[in-house]
Amino acid sequence: MKRVVLRDAEEGLSAARDAFADPSFSAQVIDWQRTHGRHTLPWQNTDDAYRIWLSEIMLQQTQVAAVIPYYEKFLRRFPTIELLAAAPGEDVMAHWSGLGYYTRARNLHRCAQQVVELHQGVFPADPALLAELPGIGRSTAAAITAFAYGTRAAIMDGNVKRVFARVFGVSTYPGEKKTEAQLWERAVALLPASGEQSSTQSRMQSYTQGLMDLGATLCIRSHPACPRCPLASRCVALATDRVAELPLRKPKKAVPEKHAVMVVVTDRQQVLLTQRPDHGIWGGLLSLPELGGFTATAPDALDTAAAQRAFQEQVSALVAPFGTVQSCARLQPFSHGFTHFKLHVTPYQVILDQRIASVGQSQQSWWDARRLADAPLPAPVKKLLLALFSRDDLFAA
Ligand code: ADE
Repeated sequence: MKRVVLRDAEEGLSAARDAFADPSFSAQVIDWQRTHGRHTLPWQNTDDAYRIWLSEIMLQQTQVAAVIPYYEKFLRRFPTIELLAAAPGEDVMAHWSGLGYYTRARNLHRCAQQVVELHQGVFPADPALLAELPGIGRSTAAAITAFAYGTRAAIMDGNVKRVFARVFGVSTYPGEKKTEAQLWERAVALLPASGEQSSTQSRMQSYTQGLMDLGATLCIRSHPACPRCPLASRCVALATDRVAELPLRKPKKAVPEKHAVMVVVTDRQQVLLTQRPDHGIWGGLLSLPELGGFTATAPDALDTAAAQRAFQEQVSALVAPFGTVQSCARLQPFSHGFTHFKLHVTPYQVILDQRIASVGQSQQSWWDARRLADAPLPAPVKKLLLALFSRDDLFAA
């Protein structure tokens, strides 16, 4: 069974939490939610933890509008947790079909069975206990217990991260461990204070829904509605003109760079192409012959006589089965981005002066330049060849 360690708000506020505390924050969110938030979603206006749990799982990776019809149909078929726990797995999957992320449905079914077996069919009000169940992480556990029981527990989903990153001007990536831990610290520190029980419950419900509503309706990724936001006067991103920039996007990993020398061997209106292996980059396509494959370092500059001689020998060896070299000229280099690396290509054009009528050559064959548009070539190679052969002055027979 998974074990999620939750920080207990009662454990004693850390210094960081003290520094983050500000009762006016939750007051502004609650007041706004009560007048401008959403109040008629199908999973609102109930304290039935089963219905609330079901909605929170469906909403984990799916938008409200897409969830509503599934939620309603699912509840018609499985109106209680006992009926869901006892249902065949295929039946549960069939009712989830179309919502995507099917691990959610398998965990949902297992979770229902565990709530029935371990908790007599009643969802625990302690978010730490709830977070031990399949498919329920820290934020989902907090949302369920806040909505169903008014428990003082903090949520921190993608939408709330965006609100917090902007309001507090968090200028590091929120998916990074340290930043995320700090966001949780803030979220706990800013919970409505506990007071008289029924008021705490209702404030926790409005506050939790308010954060969700702000993130989903005003503080959206593009074109947020800042003039209507109850937190605008305290929003660091707004004050410093960084709303569009925050939250920071996931930093891109540096992509490795590779290099290739490609040789365009031409003879009148024909070009020599090679068949690439079925697997790997450009698998199964035709392409230009390469000198030395893809390399991690850039090709040597041909700035000495020895380097030029070595290069010419390599070119002569490559074209030897097809003829002898009349001229060899460097063409415009180009680059191409793959998902895992960037390829820099230095092409050379080799014109043959004597063509050998070689037949049965394994991977390489002549291709008619007039049919290049139809050739199964990688896009950047095709572009290079089409540009080259459009200069028909060069290739007049
Ligand atoms: N997204 C996650 N939980 C939600 C809720 N209770 N209402 C609206 N959107 C949500």
